[in-house]
Parts: sequence; C-alpha cells; structure tokens
Amino acid sequence: MNVTVNVNGKPYTRDVEPRTLLVHFLRDDLLLTGTHVGCDTSQCGACTVHIDGHAVKSCTVLAVQVDGMDVRTIEGLGTPGEMHPLQTGFWEQHGLQCGFCTPGMIMASAELLKHNPHPSEEEIRYHLEGNFCRCTGYHNIVKAVQHAAEIMDGSGQAGGQAADD
Ligand code: FES
Ligand code: FES
Repeated sequence: MNVTVNVNGKPYTRDVEPRTLLVHFLRDDLLLTGTHVGCDTSQCGACTVHIDGHAVKSCTVLAVQVDGMDVRTIEGLGTPGEMHPLQTGFWEQHGLQCGFCTPGMIMASAELLKHNPHPSEEEIRYHLEGNFCRCTGYHNIVKAVQHAAEIMDGSGQAGGQAADD
C-alpha cells in the first residue's frame, strides 16, 4: 500500500506492507533511527514520536494509519547547532547515560511542556510514567525537564517550539 506521511516537515511516499508499524517505517524506510525500539510490549516509550502534535508510541500504530498526517521525530526537534531546550536540558543536567531512552523521553516531555509550561516534579514523573530508563534512576531526567522549562520560560518559548508540531 502507498502511504504519504509528512515527517519533520517533509512529505515521504513509500510502498509499505499493511502490517508495517510506524516505528519500523521511520527506522527502516526513512532511516530515521533516532526513534528506538526498546520492547515488544508497548511499555518502554523509547519509540515515542508526535503524531499531529500528540506524543504516541510509534510501535502501537501502523504506518498506514498515519497516511496524510504529520509526524515529528527526535530528528525534527533540534539540531546539534541549535538544540531544543529539552535537548539542552538533558545535556546540562546529565539526564542520560546510554541515551537509549532519551529520544522517547524528550518527545514525551515536549508534549508535557506544550500543555504545562511549569510542571511540578510530581507532574513530570507522572507524565513520564510510560517511558522507561534502565540507567539513570530518573532523577536527572526530571531535572532536565525542569531545566528546559526554565529555558523556555526565560526565552518566551514556553509551549513555543514544542507546540509547533
Ligand atoms: S518500543 Fe514502543 S513502547 Fe517499547
Ligand atoms: S539513559 Fe540508558 S536507558 Fe535511559
């Protein structure tokens, strides 16, 4: 089946099997390997992307279901030269060790900051419940999100960059 998906602002049309999961479409067909596969049970959140602005686990969605929709992956959030505040936050606050969970953590956190620019620690932990990290113990991840919220607030970006998708 042909699907056309707008990914990180660019349209891609590919012929896919109907059973192809979005995460495999992104990684294998579009070579956007920043979106990770960490489980086969839809629990870990490593595959989180934004679909029409909502954070979704891309291993729970078929590629054909997003035909005509907008998808944003970690590759579309910032660049090494111009990082998204969340990427800066994870860098500054050491919010990662191996980094495997980080793309999913960041995409889920971006949705949180879009709706709640000043989340409490409890709200951050609650929002990230669907994202597992095997390395960091979560404490620095929370600090990274708080750091990003401060940057976005100070620069008037609260909900700005994260709300673009
Ligand atoms: S790979 Fe999607 S939730 Fe684990
Ligand atoms: S930093 Fe290794 S899984 Fe989270």
